[in-house]
Amino acid sequence: MRSTVLLYALLPILCLAIGPPITVTGTSQPDAIYKSPYIDVDEQRTKPHVHRYIHGGFNGTEHRFSFYFPPASIYENRFFQGLPAVPGNENAMLEPTRLGGVIDDIMPFAFESGGYVVESNQGSKTMLGMGNPAKANAAAAILSREVARQVYGKEGRVYGYVFGGSGGGYKTISAVEITDAFDGAVPFIIGSPASIPNVFSVQGHAMRLLDGKFDEIVDAIEPGGSGDMYAGLNQEQKDALLEVTRMGFPPHAWFRQKKIATGYTGVFASLLDIVRMVDPTYFTDYWTKPGYLGYEMPESLRKARFNATTRIKKVIMTKEAMDRGLPVSLSGARGSGKEESPAAFGATLKFLSGSGKDGEVYISGLVEKDIVTFGFGVLGEGKIRSVKEGDSIQLDNSVYLAALTYHRHQDPGPLYTVWNQFKNEDGSYKYPQRKVEMSKLPLSGSGSVQSGKFNAKMIVIEAGYDEAAYPWQADWYRTAVLMNQGEKADEHFRLWVVDKAMHTSPDQPKKNDPKPAENTRIVSYTPVIQQALRDLVLWVEKGVTPPPNSNYTVNDGQVLLPATAAERLSVQPVVNLKVNGKDRADVAVGQPVEFIGTVEVPPPTGTITTTKFDFEGDGTFPVTVAFEKTGYYTAQVKTTYKFAKAGTYFPALMGIAQRNTTSQFGKVANLGRVRIVVK
Ligand SMILES: *[C@@H]1O[C@H](CO)[C@@H](O)[C@H](O)[C@H]1NC(C)=O
Ligand SMILES: *[C@@H]1O[C@H](CO)[C@@H](O)[C@H](O)[C@H]1NC(C)=O
Ligand SMILES: *[C@@H]1O[C@H](CO)[C@@H](O)[C@H](O)[C@H]1NC(C)=O
Ligand SMILES: *[C@@H]1O[C@H](CO)[C@@H](O)[C@H](O)[C@H]1NC(C)=O
Repeated sequence: MRSTVLLYALLPILCLAIGPPITVTGTSQPDAIYKSPYIDVDEQRTKPHVHRYIHGGFNGTEHRFSFYFPPASIYENRFFQGLPAVPGNENAMLEPTRLGGVIDDIMPFAFESGGYVVESNQGSKTMLGMGNPAKANAAAAILSREVARQVYGKEGRVYGYVFGGSGGGYKTISAVEITDAFDGAVPFIIGSPASIPNVFSVQGHAMRLLDGKFDEIVDAIEPGGSGDMYAGLNQEQKDALLEVTRMGFPPHAWFRQKKIATGYTGVFASLLDIVRMVDPTYFTDYWTKPGYLGYEMPESLRKARFNATTRIKKVIMTKEAMDRGLPVSLSGARGSGKEESPAAFGATLKFLSGSGKDGEVYISGLVEKDIVTFGFGVLGEGKIRSVKEGDSIQLDNSVYLAALTYHRHQDPGPLYTVWNQFKNEDGSYKYPQRKVEMSKLPLSGSGSVQSGKFNAKMIVIEAGYDEAAYPWQADWYRTAVLMNQGEKADEHFRLWVVDKAMHTSPDQPKKNDPKPAENTRIVSYTPVIQQALRDLVLWVEKGVTPPPNSNYTVNDGQVLLPATAAERLSVQPVVNLKVNGKDRADVAVGQPVEFIGTVEVPPPTGTITTTKFDFEGDGTFPVTVAFEKTGYYTAQVKTTYKFAKAGTYFPALMGIAQRNTTSQFGKVANLGRVRIVVK
């Protein structure tokens, strides 16, 4: 491996060479439909790094791929293939994750790691396309080996590493469970076969009932808070918060409640149609049969239900919506392919007139006084493009409300312990159970239901504060692996839980953001994925055993990590911050406050490289403080700060550790925080 500095230095020379034309045969493809590959682009590119770009597809299918080959001087016979959450785009690598990218910096990471990059549209041109992404991804991987041998003029084994998060996590697991195309896999922020629609329904239910209470809930569990997030709630609200917590929602994620509300109602929207197709009678049973909340009709639900007709004033297309900064849902952005499609206008929204007549989409957010964003699934897809100004529409939230307690009526079985809360002591169910077994259906769109059986090596990365892929689901998968592989599991599988990480990375702070900024509360798990991919390479190619599983417990739906890095294991540092030995101090304006922090790395997984403070919560971490080593894997930092204005502050200390300190990747962070009340 060489550094990227060298890569840049090579740039002017390497631009010139492209090499002999490539021929592809498809004879090595196990699937008949992928036996006619072709290449339609083969060119040298320089951005963002020098590489040979090859694009093509498989005749008679919608499957398209892109390969990115680095200069031969840094190639070490391997490739990295990132799987986006949804199919439909073989050029997603450079996109932000919100629009379908996998992680940032894939190309420089892969190149620094001696590999080329593979991506594909996973077998279909649109996000809602049908097909088998696992087999499509395998076909692209297999073809890339054929091409790589010609590009580099080298025979021999080409190792393949696949990775992807969320929807891409399902696809990554399927890719190694039902094909042999990959040697190693890093599925991250993974769900289980019982995620859909349950993780979205239960949090929607909580958000409906806890509206207006989230500031108090968040404050209670901040450092120096009361610790009781249920204080100040009425019984119905307490029950909803308890239900969602026992289902696995990590309470520390509620600070992002507004983004969760707009973000995941959009995702929920594209999944709800699946529930409506496989279990259509639920949506009438909910309102008409005993045991369902809609029949019981508590006062809060009566008030929440609405049904009205109105007209569309204006249809806002994807590009304009994005330019205006509206929180466009994934289906709004990608659902109908690459061309523009409507993304916003002002529940279920049913078109009563015009050429979209009888189409139904779901409102995913009220973003301005008279603008709503929406998402849609397979039922709404065909109609959405024909709606226009002046069409009359019906707004009705009865499908949405019913969906919010669907999880109560769908116990996926004994391995899913979070459903125990819906049983009585004698084992009988508190609520009527549906006949359809959703968790047995291949709803994740990956090509198969997770089994725990695979031959490759795998490191799963789960985010400890994940608001969408509740962390216990990675433990569920680990159990499936143990049941299938027994003693051998340790030779194939690791699970690392990343503390203080959510489903998506913290947004970079902007000037007028509320304080404390997100990045003083949560860290990105991306550096852990980079480290995992590098550990996987060593494990697969050299037999080097990677760091152990995270040491955690699952308690009533919540995944809990021990206090110290030495007990937590895996690869992330643990950061503790104290003020006068406590997690809260009440001080006067201008009074010096002394902070003492400790950073600890799980031995022997890295070196502490950086310790920096953000006192005012604006997210810039402006003060880097030198740390004093107190042991080989531990360090201490001390500093004082004076607050110039009265207010409540949540100062944060970020500690960063790295295995290979000459690399620009794998900088794994964690945070310690305290509360300072300045009067
Ligand atoms: C793929 O289809 C194109 C035309 O659509 C044809 O020219 C080409 O020969 C086909 N290639 C293979 C390998 O079938
Ligand atoms: C909503 O109102 C329309 C008429 O305005 C009616 O046809 C429809 O059945 C109502 N929906 C519900 C769920 O009550
Ligand atoms: C795992 O953590 C527990 C504390 O939660 C601790 O007692 C135990 O020793 C740890 N295991 C390892 C292998 O460090
Ligand atoms: C550390 O990273 C640098 C830069 O990518 C690389 O050249 C070096 O080989 C790496 N060292 C190890 C031990 O992996």
